[in-house]
Order: sequence, then structure tokens, then C-alpha cells
Amino acid sequence: MASLTIRNLRKNYGSVEVLKGINLEAKTGEFIALVGPSGCGKSTLLAMTAGLESITQGEIWIGDRMVNSVAPKDRDIAMVFQSYALYPTMTVKENMAFGMESRNVPKPEQQAAIARVAALLQIEPLLNRKPGQLSGGQRQRVAMGRALVRDPALFLFDEPLSNLDAKLRVDMRTEIKKLHQRVGKTTIYVTHDQIEAMTLASRIAVMHKGEVQQFDEPEVIYNRPSNVFVAGFMGSPSMNFINGEITTANGTPAVSFPLVNGGTAMLQLQNGVAERATSRSVILGIRPEHLSRQSSATSERAGFATLSAPVEVVEPTGAETMAVLKFGQKEVVGRFSPDEAPKTGEDMPLAVDMTRACLFDPATERLI
Ligand SMILES: Nc1ncnc2c1ncn2[C@@H]1O[C@H](COP(=O)(O)OP(=O)(O)OP(=O)(O)O)[C@@H](O)[C@H]1O
Ligand SMILES: [Mg+2]
Repeated sequence: MASLTIRNLRKNYGSVEVLKGINLEAKTGEFIALVGPSGCGKSTLLAMTAGLESITQGEIWIGDRMVNSVAPKDRDIAMVFQSYALYPTMTVKENMAFGMESRNVPKPEQQAAIARVAALLQIEPLLNRKPGQLSGGQRQRVAMGRALVRDPALFLFDEPLSNLDAKLRVDMRTEIKKLHQRVGKTTIYVTHDQIEAMTLASRIAVMHKGEVQQFDEPEVIYNRPSNVFVAGFMGSPSMNFINGEITTANGTPAVSFPLVNGGTAMLQLQNGVAERATSRSVILGIRPEHLSRQSSATSERAGFATLSAPVEVVEPTGAETMAVLKFGQKEVVGRFSPDEAPKTGEDMPLAVDMTRACLFDPATERLI
């Protein structure tokens, strides 16, 4: 097992810059998630780490070895591709043995590794079947098994759950987490599913247009996103962004914006935030779960601001109820518990937890 260090990594395809200077590191045993929209360069970064794509510029280190010019088979990496890439004519057992066979691992050692991993992934009854006789989820576990028999320095996963249905995906997510807790291998895990990233990783790198926007622990990425892109990408439903102005209400700094009824919302800011702003115009970021129905409890609590807003659409999902509310011209999504659920058409009295709000600079889109 080893650490992974990526230094100022660049990739050009002709004149197109796909990766624009990536810096990342995974400590030994760490689970890193790479997220970002389609085309941002996640698979390219993984393929370069595995040695399957050439490096335009920069360095890749596995442990204390620079691997830029090391052949893929000598990098001691196991990779699980999104497509699984199982050999269709081989049985599950043969698929799992293939890599060991080509590295001349002795037969008894191969058998022992397959038995150990098959038990771990609960695929023992499937060992003599061919991939065509397996379900998607079983194939996925076999692809994982083929990587796990390897005992490599580093695991690379490229969206391994993306072909599974919702239920199986959640089950496999838990399996991967258990597996990592048990074997503790250094892992880079690409996904465009931010729940997967939040639940699995000790740190998340959020990529956009070939650059890492933020690389930090899940809680920091979620609660202190470094810019509007990260804030909007992580979290579902997305963070609400409202254009406002910094002003003063009852002697304390607040952010104001117009409401539908002709009034103005005045939400008091936390200490020190207004001082850091370089312009009066700001973007206020509020997560859906930080809106709640105003009650005697919330209006008393420090850090909560109040306003009322018309409810346009109500979407109950069982455990919680989403609603679209109108803040001035802006549609805002709230996430409520069913017992405080909004009613369509109601002018809903709301409490906003301003201790959890984010302010962004409209010029740079960076967190203030
Ligand atoms: N061989 C190639 N030649 C030219 N451009 C390429 C090549 N391979 C990838 N690209 C481009 O590089 C960019 C990054 O691709 P990449 O596959 O790394 O994205 P990704 O983040 O993995 O996206 P997805 O989430 O859709 O899998 C894309 O714009 C893609 O079109
Ligand atoms: Mg990809």
C-alpha cells in the first residue's frame, strides 16, 4: 500500500486543455472521491494515474516513486472500469485469476486469493459462471473482485456503480465502505454522484473544467464551499442563490433583497461576514434544509432570520416535503419535515438559519 501524489498535472489533446494543473494527494490508506460534471476530466486523470494515457506535463508519485515513465503493469495499481471490462468467454474464477496468471503467481496462492475475495464479496456460488449469466450487480462485484485479488498499492475506481439500479447502488455503496474499513487500501474513486462521494470519502476533490475547485473533507465541502460552483454542485436539491445587498438593520449588518409582496427581506448576518465583503452586492447561499416554518421556537433563536414567502409547488417525498417558494422574482427550494409542510398558495412564515448561510462575491463567485 502507498500514498499517491499528483503534482501540477496537465493534459492536452492537441490544442484542447483537458487538465489544467491538477494537484492532489491521497495519504496511505485514504479514500479520495473525485467528483465533477461530465467532461471535467475525471476519467482522464484516472487513466493517466494508471499509465493508460500519456502525461503532457507534471508528475505522478506512488509512494516515493515517480511513475511518469513506469509501464502500467509495473505501477502496482488495480483499476475497476465503469464498463467492468470482464472477459466474456472466461468464467468468474478465470476472470479473477487472469491478472495473477499473467504475473506468474503460483496456483495455490491464486486459489487462496480467489477464495478470500469471493467470500468477502459473496460471489462464491457464481465462480463457475460466465459474465453473461450474471446480473449487473453481480458483474460489478466480480469486476471489484478481480481488482481485490491483486493486493495492489492503489485502487482506482471509475464510476463503478453507475450502471446499477438505485437500490443495488445503495447496497454496494455500503459494501464498498465496509470493504475499505476492513482492508484500508489507498483508493481514488470517481463518481458524479455526490451522495456516494459524501458517504465514502475522507476527502473529496471537486473538479470543474479541468481544475480542482476544492479538495477537502466532506463536511467542509458541504458547509464551507469555496465558491458558487462547488456550493451548487454538492447537495441535492441544490443550494439556493439569491442576489442581495449588504445593509444595516437595527444597527447590525444584514443582507436585503426584494420580496413578492413589495416588501424587503432583511436577514441578519453573522458577526464579521459583512466586513469581509468588498462590495455591497453579494450572493446569499441558503441550503434547502436551512429553511423551516417559523414558530415561537425559531423566532427566539439567535442566528435565525424571518420572512414570509408564497408557496408555488409542494412535493411530498414521504420522509420530507420539498417546496418551491418565491423570494421576489427568484424561485427557492425548501426542505421541510412533513409536520411543518407548506401548503400550495400559502404565504408561508419562514425562519432562515443564517448561521449556516454562505455569502459569495458576485464578481469572483468566491466564498466571502
Ligand atoms: N482521446 C481524446 N481526444 C480528445 N479529447 C478527449 C479524448 N479523451 C477525452 N477527451 C476530452 O477530454 C475531456 C475530459 O474527458 P473525461 O473522459 O476525462 O471526462 P469525465 O470527467 O470522466 O466525464 P464523464 O463524467 O462524462 O465520464 C472531455 O471534454 C473529452 O471530450
Ligand atoms: Mg469519465
